[in-house]
Amino acid sequence: MGIDQHGRTIDYLRISVTDRCNLRCLYCMPEEGVAWRPHDAMLSLEEIARLVAIAAKEGFSRIRLTGGEPLVRLGIVDLVRDLSQTPGIERVAMTTNGILLPRYADALRTAGLSRVNISLDTLDPAQFTHITRWGNIDDVYRGIDAALKTGFDPVKINAVVVRSLDQDLLAFARLSLDRPLHVRFIEYMPVGDPQGEDGLGWTRADTIPNEELIRSLDARAEAAGLGRLMPLHQAARPEGWGPAQYYQFKGAQGTVGFISALSRHFCSECNRLRMTAEGKLRPCLFSDQEFDVKDALRTGDDSEVRRVLAEALGAKPDEHHSQVGTERLMSQIGG
Ligand code: GTP
Ligand code: 5AD
Ligand code: SF4
Repeated sequence: MGIDQHGRTIDYLRISVTDRCNLRCLYCMPEEGVAWRPHDAMLSLEEIARLVAIAAKEGFSRIRLTGGEPLVRLGIVDLVRDLSQTPGIERVAMTTNGILLPRYADALRTAGLSRVNISLDTLDPAQFTHITRWGNIDDVYRGIDAALKTGFDPVKINAVVVRSLDQDLLAFARLSLDRPLHVRFIEYMPVGDPQGEDGLGWTRADTIPNEELIRSLDARAEAAGLGRLMPLHQAARPEGWGPAQYYQFKGAQGTVGFISALSRHFCSECNRLRMTAEGKLRPCLFSDQEFDVKDALRTGDDSEVRRVLAEALGAKPDEHHSQVGTERLMSQIGG
């Protein structure tokens, strides 16, 4: 079992399988996309599968595939099948922008994927095109429909909240009423912005503390006759390995969650390690410290891989101390 030096059990591995994407969200990727790199700069699918087999023996039992957009990686369905059949791996999940789900949802489920989280930051079609630089919101709606129809459960919607975008949060929360959708509001984190606070035109003032969000949402919901959001106890929450706190409207099929990456330190509950598509292990989302597991994999010696895994685990900080990494974009880290 992987226990770090702060006594936390680390059993959740987030793997970015590509830093490419079919969208270009403003906070995640530059318009021109990511620079071309030689093929062998990235881990192959076989290398990812081998890393996971070794990590499973070290106590990792839950895997999340992220990107960029994981569904643009060729062979992704085969990877899901491999990982979900790996001894010791209990669950494999994915965070996706949903666009390719109509094409892949059935195959992913058959391959053993347990659930999907779908990123969608606004319900306004024009604003969606603005944030993603060219996306069509109907493609995401079709992806959500496909995820539900295929039988993924829970299906979560991740909405990054940015004050200056002035998103209609009540409309988002309503998505949880009639279908089993779990809408999660995420505090915007200024990660990977090399130009500092103003790089995107968004500043730290754009992070709305979730406390404030809940208060304003409650007020609007009450005025609209939906009643108040009720906190959900552990047993009633959708399955999740992350730090979201969940609420529900009376009679709703889904829930409304909040991820307070900045305003509430959940570092003491941290259970994860991250790996970039280039095979760098990152002990903390907010720190630029990385450990190269690609070279270790290419020695062919499992004990080398175990050594790097242990090193990364040992380097997990107690908390992020509000320091924010800038060297990598979110698309390279996978959120
Ligand atoms: P569930 O298992 O469904 O709860 O998913 P998750 O929240 O672990 O993963 P997801 O990929 O859906 O991430 C949702 C948001 O949580 C993203 O904005 C992530 O950046 C953020 N997040 C995930 N892990 C961490 C973390 O270790 N630290 C911080 N600060 N934010 C995180
Ligand atoms: N702040 C908060 N969440 C972010 N995500 C990507 N970039 C940021 C950011 N700067 C979210 C995506 C996706 C998840 C993996 O991370 O919207 O849902
Ligand atoms: Fe693509 Fe997701 Fe980044 Fe948007 S947030 S550019 S959908 S990887």
